[in-house]
Amino acid sequence: MEKINFKKLKLKVEKEIKEAKDLKELDLIYKSYFGPEGTIRALTKTLNKLPEKKKKIFGKKVNEFKEFFQELIKRKSTEIKEKVERELEEKETIDITLPGKKIKTGTLHPLTLILQKVEDIFQSMGFSIVEGPEIENEWYNFDALNIPKDHPARDLWDTFYIKSEKKHPKKTGRLLLRTHTSPVQIRFMEKNFPPFRIIAPGRVFRHEATDARHEINFYQVEGLMVDKNISVANFKAILQEFLNKFFEKNVKIRLRPSYFPFTEPSFEVDVLCINCQGRGCSICSREGWIELMGAGMVHPNVFKNAGILPSEGWQGFAFGLGLERLAMAKYRINDIRLFYSSDLRFLNQFQL
Ligand code: FA5
Repeated sequence: MEKINFKKLKLKVEKEIKEAKDLKELDLIYKSYFGPEGTIRALTKTLNKLPEKKKKIFGKKVNEFKEFFQELIKRKSTEIKEKVERELEEKETIDITLPGKKIKTGTLHPLTLILQKVEDIFQSMGFSIVEGPEIENEWYNFDALNIPKDHPARDLWDTFYIKSEKKHPKKTGRLLLRTHTSPVQIRFMEKNFPPFRIIAPGRVFRHEATDARHEINFYQVEGLMVDKNISVANFKAILQEFLNKFFEKNVKIRLRPSYFPFTEPSFEVDVLCINCQGRGCSICSREGWIELMGAGMVHPNVFKNAGILPSEGWQGFAFGLGLERLAMAKYRINDIRLFYSSDLRFLNQFQL
């Protein structure tokens, strides 16, 4: 039997373990000694073949070697683990002095901000907020508002019709995208008995060429106040109060005679340009005044179509305010198309 030099074996294993770079390499070394083909197994086999006397001495040396080996492995594995942890800690250290990343928050759309303000002011004057559908029928959008089929005023409010397989009931007519919020007047008056004061904000659609002041899709705020002694004077007072609060200063308004089939008398309301005070600038298209709304005293036929009898003394005013125009006057915006451009440079200027 070949003589085994434990001293050399220890030096060899010491060198191997010292050079192990990670736990994987250490494990391979361990297996090469303690595995089925390993050195320790071979030593044990040798041991078994020895006579009793030699067995004792050899056995002691084998055990000593085993202990030596295991101690080295244990120490090295702790050393490697500590090193890995240290490296990880260094990599993951949080530098609390670094500036944080700013979380970007969105802002409300300027038209939403304007609408909230309009609603707040009207609510403070006792008006309720109601809504109507964006897809209307011809009855509510035209006929009930005193605009019969052949009336030229229909051309003013040319719109998008919705094709449908179903035959339309004669009275209600075709479906269309509403051209104004005025149909909400009829829908509300059908279900409610005066006196009342409401506003009805919402989206409207028109088939027309766009320019700096006209969109095909825009917002209106309808207003309606009905009672027994309502006159144009009430309308002027409420409107002046609303605009003063909205612009946060006393503004000058003017009523121009106009024509709407659903009001009599009718007028257009302009506000003196907030930007140039009437001198003329790009915000007011050099006119000095900005047109904000159409308005008038509710026509008796409209009352009748909604089931309210004017003979009982009911009368009132109605108006249709362009929300974009109001926002343009307040924020001095000279092109309506900016509202729908999704340009963040524009939108980010309006904070809560
Ligand atoms: C109407 O729509 C009437 N329904 C208003 C009304 C209601 C009159 C109740 C009487 C009683 P007009 O088409 O003028 O009227 O529109 C009203 C307002 O909407 C205008 O003064 C303007 O501010 C705005 N507006 C009209 N057309 C456009 C458009 N293409 N783009 C943006 N705003 C518009």
